[in-house]
Amino acid sequence: MKEKLDGIKRDAIAMIESAETTAQLNDVRVKYLGKSGAISLVMRDMANVPKEDRPAMGKLVNELRTAVEGALNEKTELLAEREEELKLKAEAIDVTLPVDGKRTGTLHPLTLIRRELIDIFAGMGFSVDEGPEIESDLFNFQLLNIPKDHPSRDMQDTFYINDNIVLRTQTSAMQARIMTTQKPPIRVVVPGKVYRSDDDTSHSPIFNQFEGLAIDKHITMGDLQGCLQTFAQKIFSKDTKVRLRPSYFPFTEPSVEVDVTCSMCHGKGCRVCKGTGWVEILGAGIVNPAVLEMCGIDSGKYSGFAFGFGIDRIAMIKYGIPNIKLLYENDMRFLKQFN
Ligand code: PHE
Repeated sequence: MKEKLDGIKRDAIAMIESAETTAQLNDVRVKYLGKSGAISLVMRDMANVPKEDRPAMGKLVNELRTAVEGALNEKTELLAEREEELKLKAEAIDVTLPVDGKRTGTLHPLTLIRRELIDIFAGMGFSVDEGPEIESDLFNFQLLNIPKDHPSRDMQDTFYINDNIVLRTQTSAMQARIMTTQKPPIRVVVPGKVYRSDDDTSHSPIFNQFEGLAIDKHITMGDLQGCLQTFAQKIFSKDTKVRLRPSYFPFTEPSVEVDVTCSMCHGKGCRVCKGTGWVEILGAGIVNPAVLEMCGIDSGKYSGFAFGFGIDRIAMIKYGIPNIKLLYENDMRFLKQFN
């Protein structure tokens, strides 16, 4: 009997020592200490041991069980530690590896141009103002010398909310708001969104305009021309030339349309300027005295100039953007180019 117990002990310890995983150790535990394990069987066999030998045998079996259990526990702890270590090593992150390119946002081309424009006009003494996009007919049209039912309304395809409220079709609405609330001298630019029911490669139902207004004593067409010349050379290039052509707007008199030499071909003629060397960029003029009077400014004492252009159009010319829709689709492949 004693030999048998020694044999069991030797085999069990050898198996425990050679086990390499906690799973293998578990098998050993079942094989010796489980319900029908070798040691459990020996305990059950005690019934067949002569009564007088039982205490001594019982002691041996207990010692055997304690020894195997002890060895198992010790090895379990060791293996658990080792396995934990391996797991940590496998999951380790190398913090010294280079990062997978950081992706930062970029400013929208319209934002870039708007900021540049504000900077240019601030340099000439203009302040910046903003106004509502849902505008009353009064400011958008009537105070600008565009009465209800007048044919000049057809110049703009308007989204009417009701008879008296529109989505503003032009930042010129702010001319009327400013002139009815401020005293000259006035020098202000107004960037903002405007809306027209118009839709093709160069027109979007929503677009951005930039308005300028200067009211003071003795303001002339020469001041307007000088101001626009400076603006064109700063936003495009130093060699940009400006050309004024007679035009018509109800709120300016006289009115002009302004062209600049094409910034793509520098006047030689290309696709952007349709071979002419010039591109039209804005409408402007001397503030109509009738508008000054309607807004409460003495037209005998003061005169002024006003101009307005599309920020989108400036961006398209400056960056060579072929379709205005690109500015409103927010396609990352397009926007990324303005990094
Ligand atoms: N508001 C005019 C337009 O949208 C442009 C303009 C502004 C013309 C100021 C003259 C003076 O077409």
